[in-house]
Amino acid sequence: MNEVIKCMLERRSIRKYRPEQITEDELDAILLAGIHAPSAGNRQSVIIAVCQNEKVNFELGRINRSLFKGKMSTEKSYISKEQPSIADEASIPSAFYGAPTVLTLFAPRNFLYSVADCCVMAQNIMLAAHSVGVGSCFVARAEDAFLSELGRELQKQWGVDESYEARVHITLGYPDGTYPNGKPRKENRIKRIS
Ligand SMILES: Cc1cc2nc3c(=O)[nH]c(=O)nc-3n(C[C@H](O)[C@H](O)[C@H](O)COP(=O)(O)O)c2cc1C
Repeated sequence: MNEVIKCMLERRSIRKYRPEQITEDELDAILLAGIHAPSAGNRQSVIIAVCQNEKVNFELGRINRSLFKGKMSTEKSYISKEQPSIADEASIPSAFYGAPTVLTLFAPRNFLYSVADCCVMAQNIMLAAHSVGVGSCFVARAEDAFLSELGRELQKQWGVDESYEARVHITLGYPDGTYPNGKPRKENRIKRIS
């Protein structure tokens, strides 16, 4: 199997991180992969904010955590036994799981493809991260987290125009704990038309 497909099959969402920061070379490689993602009409309008400030990441992650209104997991519906998500474990304080680097992807608020642009970039970032030994997790609720007082303040401080909206968070750091098992794939999701 070629290396790219192997990387896609082996990447897992990582929610336990070692405290040390990833290297600048690793971060640069991951961001380079991110900005080479496809974009609608080649607009390349997604902006990546890279935050390595522990206090800011914890506060924003705590706000994001408080916005999680989904159902908590049950024994049958857990998301990850090895690396519990906030739906699996109510006591996890931050939706960023203590990751030392947190990316926020911003895109123009009133652009039809802004979510799609952020999501394809996110996948490039997560695969590139895995390929250099860095764990990652896609974290939702960025829009609402950036509606908070802290979120609005950070957007201003980071120089991201208010016409842009936070769409996706991605946590980055070295994996800790047990590497998660892949989940069985559901059947009948491919329709071959002849
Ligand atoms: C659109 C989207 C939103 C997600 N939101 C979260 C999230 O808020 N928190 C989290 O821990 N994981 C989140 N995930 C990660 C999924 O839970 C994870 O991809 C899924 O359980 C499959 O596990 P795997 O990534 O290890 O294959 C999200 C993934 C996607 C694609």
